[in-house]
Amino acid sequence: NKVVLAYSGGLDTSAIIPWLKENYDCEVIAFAADVGQGDEELEGLYEKALASGASDCHIVDLKEEFVAEYIYPTVMTGAVYEGEYLLGTSMARPVIAKAQVAIARKVGADALCHGCTGKGNDQVRFESAFAALAPDLQVIAPWREWDMVSREDLLDYLATRNIPTTASATKIYSRDANAWHISHEGGELEDPWQAPSDQVWTLTCSPEQAPDKAQTVTLSFEQGKLVKVDDTLLSPYQALTQLNQVAAQHGVGRSDIVENRLVGMKSRGCYETPGGTVLLKAYKALETMVLDKMSLKHREQLALEFSHLVYDGRWFTPLCHAILAGASVFAQQITGDVVVKLYKGQATVVQRQSPNSLYSEDFATFGADDVYNQKHAEGFIRLYSLPSRIAALQKQER
Ligand code: ARG
Ligand code: SIN
Repeated sequence: NKVVLAYSGGLDTSAIIPWLKENYDCEVIAFAADVGQGDEELEGLYEKALASGASDCHIVDLKEEFVAEYIYPTVMTGAVYEGEYLLGTSMARPVIAKAQVAIARKVGADALCHGCTGKGNDQVRFESAFAALAPDLQVIAPWREWDMVSREDLLDYLATRNIPTTASATKIYSRDANAWHISHEGGELEDPWQAPSDQVWTLTCSPEQAPDKAQTVTLSFEQGKLVKVDDTLLSPYQALTQLNQVAAQHGVGRSDIVENRLVGMKSRGCYETPGGTVLLKAYKALETMVLDKMSLKHREQLALEFSHLVYDGRWFTPLCHAILAGASVFAQQITGDVVVKLYKGQATVVQRQSPNSLYSEDFATFGADDVYNQKHAEGFIRLYSLPSRIAALQKQER
């Protein structure tokens, strides 16, 4: 029996390795995805997995795939969950699950395992992806099975088995990092009346401490894809990394929210999405130049639909393909440059241009013009408001 475990090197997944071997009488193959969470998390992972009893550990670089095939498509739909959450964790789960399934096939595994709790969204996202990609493989979710509840329990469990760990009994926050964002939950954040302490934030500078001088950054898009930052051609992942760096310095992209989890309860989380915040603003600024009123309205509807689809773990579905196909029609037109000013936590679009722009100074001007006949507006408004006129007249007669 072989199980492929989505392994992070943290305390939870470290305890899962011996637990699987004892309870499922199996060989455990650890799998870790590099989705841009940073080198500190990946360092020494292979040795750590083997020290915990895994028979092998595969570390797969998914950074470019994650940004190009999950993040950019989501950006082109404009999806933001409940108006605030930029979906960093939600978008990462399907790309991780897909690579995990590929490893499982490669090693001929019978089962897939993850370290998500039974109270969260991530279990749903992983297992929905598994269902779509590997319906024949068994799924093991230890947190829903074992009766350990605290970090002390997990540490005791490892200690009795002489498995080394550097994990400590107290870890305040539950965090999840990747190329797009870092999330923070737990600790004092569980009380929504408690402001986040300074220890919460790890990626961005506080707006108060950000430089007193504003900085601008120029984003260039081609057919919906970010291709250049400040005139330098970059790969999707490089471009995002570059944006993260400048935006984080200026304290851009923090958000502190209460959200509805798919499994029913509300949860409070703090998110840092510096580059993503800038990217979405810039993208939307180009859309406003290029898309006509009807198209933009439809794109906004796609955004709402897609935000729930991604949050709810429905990436590998026909609906996902359908929405992305629709969104890509609009994205084809999104070519051009946007200048964003970064200052004390704010990202403000200050310039935009596009070869596909529908904006016409000749039409829009409040000065004299010879392209628009104001008299034409009279008949338009007359018919446009006809239903109201008829109803009001009818009321007067009564
Ligand atoms: N609440 C966010 C979401 O559902 C973040 C979840 C963080 N996950 C984690 N394993 N720490 O997408
Ligand atoms: C977890 O419960 O494993 C993390 C939080 C979430 O999935 O929402």
